[in-house]
Amino acid sequence: MSSHSDPALMRPRRFSAQGPLKGRIRVPGDKSISHRSIMLGALAVGETRVTGLLEGEDVLSTAAAMRAMGSTIERQANGDWLVAGVGVGGLLQPAGALDMGNSGTSTRLLMGLVASHPITACFVGDGSLSKRPMGRVIDPLSQVGARFTAYPGGRLPLIVEGAATPVPLSYRLPVASAQVKSAVLLAGLNTPGITTVIEPIPTRDHSERMLKGFGANLSVEIASDGARIIRLVGEAELKPQAITVPGDPSSAAFFVVAALIVPGSDLVIENVGLNPTRAALFDVLRLMGGSIEEIDRRDVGGEPVADLRVRASALTGIDVDPAVVPSMVDEFPVLFVAAAHAQGRTITRGLEELRVKESDRITVMRVALELAGARVTETEDGMIIDGTGGTPLPGTPADASVATHLDHRIAMSMAVAGLASANGVGIDDTRPIATSFPVFEQLIATATAA
Ligand code: S3P
Repeated sequence: MSSHSDPALMRPRRFSAQGPLKGRIRVPGDKSISHRSIMLGALAVGETRVTGLLEGEDVLSTAAAMRAMGSTIERQANGDWLVAGVGVGGLLQPAGALDMGNSGTSTRLLMGLVASHPITACFVGDGSLSKRPMGRVIDPLSQVGARFTAYPGGRLPLIVEGAATPVPLSYRLPVASAQVKSAVLLAGLNTPGITTVIEPIPTRDHSERMLKGFGANLSVEIASDGARIIRLVGEAELKPQAITVPGDPSSAAFFVVAALIVPGSDLVIENVGLNPTRAALFDVLRLMGGSIEEIDRRDVGGEPVADLRVRASALTGIDVDPAVVPSMVDEFPVLFVAAAHAQGRTITRGLEELRVKESDRITVMRVALELAGARVTETEDGMIIDGTGGTPLPGTPADASVATHLDHRIAMSMAVAGLASANGVGIDDTRPIATSFPVFEQLIATATAA
């Protein structure tokens, strides 16, 4: 199991003001696209090359699992990754448990893959992942014909016995989740007939784009009520690809907010993925008065990308439209930090899903921001934040630190709060940052030294 479960090995750090963020930085590859590059590459017939893969622990968990099921995955000296696929239907029985570490995406998507292969796999994870609900994928994948033995409450550790004769599903998503959508579609790859997913509220569409890119027969129709109807023809033969992974907007988010709230900042973040199903944070921050300029908008690997120039700005609180939640679901912790520095009140609603992420991100951020001196009120499905109008937050008491609960985005959001604070913010454990953004601390040093 992940070493992050051992509290004796925690790595605390205090993040304090280090002056403006300047110059140019480049954030690592998109986590969602990196996971899918490995998975689809491992299912293609032949060799897929991935440039710009995120080498975070979550993606490495996916790579280790795909290796355990027969694929060969290697990093080249130039930083590219080569994935030799086994073909759809070719996954092998893993010899031992698959350690998913902290990664919900690895777990849920791989459960989908295993569900339609005649193999059995045992999934284990760290203390955070073992609290997260898996019923949302167990339900549809059981209808495909897979059998599950899960820890009480539908949690890890769990065993999936894949179906020998999988049945194609037509499934309407009861929760706006790209992970559930992707699990069903990936199960559909090795299922005869047409698998249909109906998505009433659109979520990130990387699986659809990439499945098409790998040659699967996938179509999307918009129903009269606005729902997306995604159809995938099963028993697909995937063709290997050369993939360039754009920079992760969810990682760029921390630097965008830091540059907006640290006075005097003027920072360019290069190569940021701006897929509309991911990029709502930048629109919300602009509505709050943030200066975020797109430079050289272009296409990288079938995804829109631009460099972002971000300048310190006076922000104003807003009422965030709940309709944008799925397009910035991972960015609320750092939006709360921005809102804590805005003039006036910010209201967020419709955030129920935040309670089942790597931690309960509503409660954990409320407690963390209160400790740092912000005025915040937790509601059932959101947070109300009364900002300082640009005055730095005091920060955490010298002997106190924020509890991050094995959640990388809590650690990074509160690190950003520390950079803009009067006295610094203590973080109890920085190790989880490596799950998605291993060079985060290095890039803070770069941007504040420029
Ligand atoms: C992801 C989907 C989102 C997101 C996660 C990555 C993906 O989860 O929070 O970080 O790659 O599909 P949900 O689909 O459960 O909202």
